[in-house]
Amino acid sequence: MKQSVKLIAGNWKMNGLASSLVEATALKSALEADPADCRVALCPPATLIAQMAWQLRGGSIELGGQDCHAAASGAFTGSISAAMLADAGARLVILGHSERRAGFAETDAVVAAKVEAALQAGLEPIICVGETLEQRQAGQAVAVVADQVAGSLPLSLADQAFAVAYEPVWAIGTGLTPSLDQIEEVHAAIRAALIARLGPAGQTAPILYGGSVKPSNAAEILAVPEVGGALVGGASLKAEEFIGIIRGA
Ligand code: G3P
Repeated sequence: MKQSVKLIAGNWKMNGLASSLVEATALKSALEADPADCRVALCPPATLIAQMAWQLRGGSIELGGQDCHAAASGAFTGSISAAMLADAGARLVILGHSERRAGFAETDAVVAAKVEAALQAGLEPIICVGETLEQRQAGQAVAVVADQVAGSLPLSLADQAFAVAYEPVWAIGTGLTPSLDQIEEVHAAIRAALIARLGPAGQTAPILYGGSVKPSNAAEILAVPEVGGALVGGASLKAEEFIGIIRGA
């Protein structure tokens, strides 16, 4: 299947204060000295996006949010809309991360509504799917991610830029990763599910892998067929480690 340029995105989760911006500066300098062969994005906490956008202006690093509300605006205390993320300088947004699906009861339908909101605001969604350990042990990994793709991706994605991220829940922050064969199997299943859902438009969207990606395993994971990039948590917090992953692409 035709692959577009790989996307390496860092998800800082609820980590990072203004002092952490030094890591973004270091990453920018490293990429200026030796440009990457891939797209690079940072998804810091929403509080840092505007400052980071200013700091990274003129560079190649793209910015993303980690979630958004499905509504465009209104009485939703504490929430952030897709348009607000875009206004702060984001071009992408992570949606349906397992930490939101599990911790905030986000169903596929909720994720799909957020994807619609992101598209309305001109953001490129990165839609996360992935099985739990119990589901993998029960032999349900492929079926689970195929269901999540079918339920979380609105048909309006067909003519839009987006990515899917395969993040096995049991691989997130644990140091564990699936075997390369397992990654290949699930990515192939996601590709098939994307085509089943969106038709030919499902052929080219990058499918990222996420879950304990680090400099030492990035190159081999990124070389697996249908792996179109990586969504990186812990190892994206330090520029030195993240650049090691970017070089693996
Ligand atoms: O979204 C990225 C993530 O969930 C993976 O986290 O720390 O295992 O790279 P980590």
